[in-house]
Amino acid sequence: MVITGATSGIGEVAAIRLAELGARIIHIARDEKRAAATQAALKKANPAANPVLHLADLSLLSEMRRVARAIAAAEPKIDVLINNAGAMVNKRQVTADGLEKTFALNHMAYFVITNMLLPNIVDHGRIVVTASNAHRGASLDFDDLQSERGYRGFGVYSETKLMNILFTRALARRLESGSGARGITANALHPGFVATRFGDQSGGVLGGVIKLIKPLGAISPEAGAKTIIYLASSPDVAGVSGQYFFECNPTTPTHEALNDDDGERLWKISEGIAELPADDSPWLV
Ligand SMILES: NC(=O)c1ccc[n+]([C@@H]2O[C@H](COP(=O)([O-])OP(=O)(O)OC[C@H]3O[C@@H](n4cnc5c(N)ncnc54)[C@H](OP(=O)(O)O)[C@@H]3O)[C@@H](O)[C@H]2O)c1
Repeated sequence: MVITGATSGIGEVAAIRLAELGARIIHIARDEKRAAATQAALKKANPAANPVLHLADLSLLSEMRRVARAIAAAEPKIDVLINNAGAMVNKRQVTADGLEKTFALNHMAYFVITNMLLPNIVDHGRIVVTASNAHRGASLDFDDLQSERGYRGFGVYSETKLMNILFTRALARRLESGSGARGITANALHPGFVATRFGDQSGGVLGGVIKLIKPLGAISPEAGAKTIIYLASSPDVAGVSGQYFFECNPTTPTHEALNDDDGERLWKISEGIAELPADDSPWLV
């Protein structure tokens, strides 16, 4: 199983629990020290498996492509891909690719890694996408996906989480259709409001507010990881695709998240930004 964002929070718990269930974990991380700690925990969780760490900053297109290519070369059979790394940024930051950072990390990394690893995902494999109920209230301005006209940290974060659901549904449609359909499923989830490191690096008032409210109502990372583990491993969801889950149950996202025309529009734009070389095909169109 390949997972992003396993150095912390719900991704770390999910990776360890899945390793305990027998999975061999390949994880993508940017912080060497935290990644080494996750590696040690994964080895302890499943001494027989050989967990593999790939270092990459998933806010950069070149890094997304490099790490996906390295994993694709090393892992011919991937059962489950879990797109989970994400963050919220208080002040607008632009990456070396000219992309707004939240959009790059929370949406483009999911898009690029999924598309590049897809040929290696086994028949009836699973793709799991950590979205959020923060998408409720968000809508997309396709003329300003890089938030150049105005930036609010939580607003932009919420829009990327809306993109996660639109992306999952567009992906599920592609995986279901056509003669090459291989039974691969794609589902998104909301983990709940979880006391993780999320928000600690956001900065500004936003980061402060999250820090204040976390002790008031947030659930543990152990509880927050449950739906990821369920979607990655439960026989209950074999064959279920294109759904949005909360507490291990399918739930209905917003009207905006069900707008498949928007999903297709986002897919085309993302494809243009991703600019994957032809040798990284088969490319879902
Ligand atoms: N916590 C919540 O209440 C909540 C609610 C709904 C949805 N979510 C979603 O859950 C997912 C996981 O968040 P979490 O709550 O577990 O937060 P977290 O503890 O902050 O974990 C985030 C993970 O993403 C990684 N990451 C961040 N930026 C990265 C980058 N540029 N390149 C590679 N990896 C990067 C982090 O790595 P580092 O160790 O290097 O920082 C960490 O492993 C996110 O997608 C978030 O949107 C969380």
